[in-house]
Amino acid sequence: MLKGGKVGLRARHEDDIPVLRTELYDDVVNASRAEGGPWRPLSPGTKDPRLVVDGTEQKHVPFSVIELDGGTLVGTATLWGIDTHNRTAHIGLALLPASRGKGYGTDVVAVLCHYGFVVRGLHRLQIETLADNDAMLRAAERNGFVREGVLRSSAWVMGEFLDEVLLGLLARDWKPAPRPAGG
Ligand SMILES: CC(C)(COP(=O)(O)OP(=O)(O)OC[C@H]1O[C@@H](n2cnc3c(N)ncnc32)[C@H](O)[C@@H]1OP(=O)(O)O)[C@@H](O)C(=O)NCCC(=O)NCCS
Repeated sequence: MLKGGKVGLRARHEDDIPVLRTELYDDVVNASRAEGGPWRPLSPGTKDPRLVVDGTEQKHVPFSVIELDGGTLVGTATLWGIDTHNRTAHIGLALLPASRGKGYGTDVVAVLCHYGFVVRGLHRLQIETLADNDAMLRAAERNGFVREGVLRSSAWVMGEFLDEVLLGLLARDWKPAPRPAGG
């Protein structure tokens, strides 16, 4: 497991899936804002490609996020679009609604940076987020990401086009937070 100050990033467990699905994807507005595609209902028992891990997929590393204190599941985190030639990747995260606004998102970004830069030897990490997602923008900027551009009207979300902000962080500019022992 990778440890931050407050959260840990571990492998996806089978019993994480129904919780993540209900909390993150059953809500149409939440899901529409978090995904680059339309919300669709999924029948019980259907394997949800957003949550079921394909162990053969090399370009996509999914984690479940837990509280270090007690081990409660609080969300998902992903390093995706890993490009081993250019040594770049994207990061994504989503916390359960009750776990937002407690500093966990900022901590998850820090742990994903450690995984990307240190464990995987990447050179550049990127985040795309809706321009009105202040919490995500702050969590990224707290970790040193800089705004590199605005993708105008790039996301169709619940009846309107929204802008997305593209943020980047280079390994040479990253200032890692002190890490807990064993993290
Ligand atoms: C975006 C998200 C990951 C941020 O994580 P979080 O744990 O809620 O954020 P944090 O508690 O670490 O707060 C980060 C900063 O944003 C601020 N913040 C938190 N919630 C906020 C809100 N609703 N509105 C404005 N600012 C907010 C915090 O005060 C903090 O600012 P500071 O560093 O200046 O103190 C989380 O809210 C989430 O999962 N949202 C839904 C899914 C999503 O949008 N994912 C990102 C898709 S790219």
